[in-house]
Amino acid sequence: MPQDHSVVRLEDYQPTPYQIDRVSMAFRLDPMQTEITTTLRMAPRQGSNNSQALKLQGDEINLIGARLNGSALDASHYEATPDSFVLHKPPQETFILEFVTRVAPDNNTQLMGLYRSSGTYCTQCEAEGFRRITYFYDRPDVLSVYEVRIEAPKDVPYLLANGNLIDSGDMDTPEGFDTAQAWHYAVWQDPFPKPSYLFAMVAGDLARVEDHFITRSGRNVALHIYVEHGKEDRVAYAMDSLKRSMKWDEDVFDREYDLDIFMILAVSDFNMGAMENKGLNIFNDKYVLAKPDTATDTDYALIEAVIAHEYFHNWTGNRITCRDWFQLCLKEGLTVFRDQEFSSDMRSRPVKRISDVRQLRARQFPEDSGPLAHPVRPEAYSEINNFYTATVYEKGAELCRMLKTLIGDDGFKDGLDLYFKRFDGQAVTIEDFLASFEEACSVNLTQFSQWYRQAGTPNLVATYTYDAARGQMSLTIEQSCPPTPGQPTKKLMQIPVRFGLVARDGSSATFSGIRDAKSGSLIGGSDCTLLTLTNREHTYIFEGVSTDALPSLARGFSAPIHLRTNLTLEDQLILVRHDTDPFNRWEATQFVLMDHLIRQTRANQSSSIAVDQPVNAALIEALKTCLLDDSLEHAFRAQLLQVPSEADIAREIGKNVNPDAIHAARESLRQELAKALGTTLVELYQSLQDGGAFQPDSASAGRRALRNGLLDLILAAGEGTAKGIATAHYNEASNMTDRFAALAAMTLNRSTAADALLTDFHDRYADDALVIDKWLSLQASSPQEGTIGKVKTLMDHPSFSMSNPNRVRALIGAFAMNNPIQFNRKDGEGFKLVADIILTLDRSNPQTAARLANNFRSWKVLEASRQTSAERELRRIANTEVLSKDVADIVNRCLQ
Ligand code: BES
Ligand code: ZN
Repeated sequence: MPQDHSVVRLEDYQPTPYQIDRVSMAFRLDPMQTEITTTLRMAPRQGSNNSQALKLQGDEINLIGARLNGSALDASHYEATPDSFVLHKPPQETFILEFVTRVAPDNNTQLMGLYRSSGTYCTQCEAEGFRRITYFYDRPDVLSVYEVRIEAPKDVPYLLANGNLIDSGDMDTPEGFDTAQAWHYAVWQDPFPKPSYLFAMVAGDLARVEDHFITRSGRNVALHIYVEHGKEDRVAYAMDSLKRSMKWDEDVFDREYDLDIFMILAVSDFNMGAMENKGLNIFNDKYVLAKPDTATDTDYALIEAVIAHEYFHNWTGNRITCRDWFQLCLKEGLTVFRDQEFSSDMRSRPVKRISDVRQLRARQFPEDSGPLAHPVRPEAYSEINNFYTATVYEKGAELCRMLKTLIGDDGFKDGLDLYFKRFDGQAVTIEDFLASFEEACSVNLTQFSQWYRQAGTPNLVATYTYDAARGQMSLTIEQSCPPTPGQPTKKLMQIPVRFGLVARDGSSATFSGIRDAKSGSLIGGSDCTLLTLTNREHTYIFEGVSTDALPSLARGFSAPIHLRTNLTLEDQLILVRHDTDPFNRWEATQFVLMDHLIRQTRANQSSSIAVDQPVNAALIEALKTCLLDDSLEHAFRAQLLQVPSEADIAREIGKNVNPDAIHAARESLRQELAKALGTTLVELYQSLQDGGAFQPDSASAGRRALRNGLLDLILAAGEGTAKGIATAHYNEASNMTDRFAALAAMTLNRSTAADALLTDFHDRYADDALVIDKWLSLQASSPQEGTIGKVKTLMDHPSFSMSNPNRVRALIGAFAMNNPIQFNRKDGEGFKLVADIILTLDRSNPQTAARLANNFRSWKVLEASRQTSAERELRRIANTEVLSKDVADIVNRCLQ
């Protein structure tokens, strides 16, 4: 296959010379020969150069016929290939272009365009899947009103598309089909102009769960969730989450839903998590289906967040969309910010912040510091699917949050209101977005806008000194940003640093004001909680400081930065005990644990018989106090107990990483902690015994999280009595959260009882694919020596399938992502396994194969011998003759 190295650049943006204001489509469904008639009403765009040819995109299009203004087009008037259609002399006034195309949904293994999942016809068009259905200007700035007719045999009862149902009924069986089979049709019309990526069509024999929501202006919206027959009893939580999302968006953002019906379809074959098609969201079923004995608390929280996210896109993405895919963070970053806020309001705000920051550091920081680093708004791409990244999504959300911090809650609301008002119905840019805030709040966001353009995580170095005699604290903060691919030097950024003072004795510390040391000017009074960095270096003088105190900086993680301070371990332990900001209290705990882990890792690395370092006794005491402090939420205490992950430690070490030394350090710390906390753990564990029926609410989930976290730590101390406790925990569990937590703790702590329970677990849930995914993931995550062999065996297991992305992610994704010592094996067997699978999967599903290839992004931080093995596999992939653009792009950037 000729490799296509074409690159799309932001600077080359041009509007299309023609517009398409109406699209009407007719689908005659068949698994192998679906016929699609598409009628486009087009016209030259005002002010465009009329001499341009009309070139539409396609992808593997099989064209049956083309007509212009009702007459068949002569072959000399156009040129059609599978990936483009060119009309040589387009009319210069409104015209009608019609295509008949044919696709085979059952042969569509890429899961882009029209395909079937468990017999249900469905579509996935973002980012460039619509062009697999028909020729089109398949880009987000071409907005059209769609009318869609679906024709199918009556054994496919539900026929759905975007918008409102305007007609349906029986029809004659079309020519060429079995006359014994009766047919029917449905016609849907979506009144809102939309880009092609938001198009959706669904047809299947499904179960429908119904509810409704009355909007604040009194519109009665029908809510329909479609699932496979027999799964109706797992829809309640998704439906409830949807209603809460609709209410919350009215209450918090003044956004009301705009159609009379909102539909969700759950399918088992889906590349991503979910998709926000107008009025007809399509979901990976793992983000819809839940009942207590098959879904964990984590699953419930994810369902709530993903349902909210896709619903929130209706305003941030659909009503106002992106001008081009470079602006992806305009919809994704903002919508992630919105779903994070929603979850914070539904659950615990501090705990949500801690888990979001954990995720940002685990997913985005490694991306930002490696070969795949790119700005939140990239400037060039060769394959857009590879830019649905943690940077665009999660760092993009952080930028929205920083903006809110900088301009205040009211200013942020005013700016967004202006954005919604001004750009409703348009396809816009980050500049348009920022201009709304500049205008509404009279601020200048020029420096802030660098966050969208510069890749890399800024480093802040903060140094404080306290002068008791003068009652002054001096605080110097310096910023820098490391080079990233294509960006050797960086401009200075505007960085919001939330802060507070914490007295050494735990009492409250106050100050009278803050001055800039250089200019002497007053920066803030006694109520100031925010410093805004704009220069390379700032020195702040805190005056009238009431008592010997420490700065608690970047509270709530007020910016996506790396912070180093001159706070000592003792200082950090004061924050562990006394910081009133829960995020920084957790952060200080992590700091102390990380300090230990790094020293232990270094010791392990330099000696084969490294001695276990003693764990800081003051930390043990502080943790004990926190664990028993009933004023702290259970979920927060569970977070305190979670030792930094192996990936966290690797990132902190940054180069010459030896995953075995890290793993051993972490295991020994957990063991020492468990021993030192001893009976505190067991007694607290026992006091948290759960009674009554499972409730998925935040408080109940928090209680389970703490109890399960305690069990995991108790097991880390060694089997002893813990084996009995854990086995009982597994057997007596009344829900999946507790049962799976026990199984995971036993497997990951290498309990001798684990194998028997893994078999038991399999037999209990053998025919429940989503539960079996947990079973596959857990085994692939096991640090045991034999895991590679196990993963290979599991690939032959009847529940595994290379054609289902959830199965591939559960087994192979988990191995590459959650198993640092086996994936990064010195002998290269881990890399080889994943590379083999990438190559196999690339032939059927390049998008999912490329996502798997992302796991190589940090190979350059490994110690030399492991780098060599990783590079060998990357080169083997890169040199493969037939390779998708998706995988080639990731692998080539990794190698650069
Ligand atoms: N628009 C995306 C889905 C998508 C992603 C389509 C990539 C095509 C390519 C959707 O809104 C989304 O962001 N989904 C996330 C989950 C969400 C909760 C962050 C996903 O699918 O992972
Ligand atoms: Zn999204």
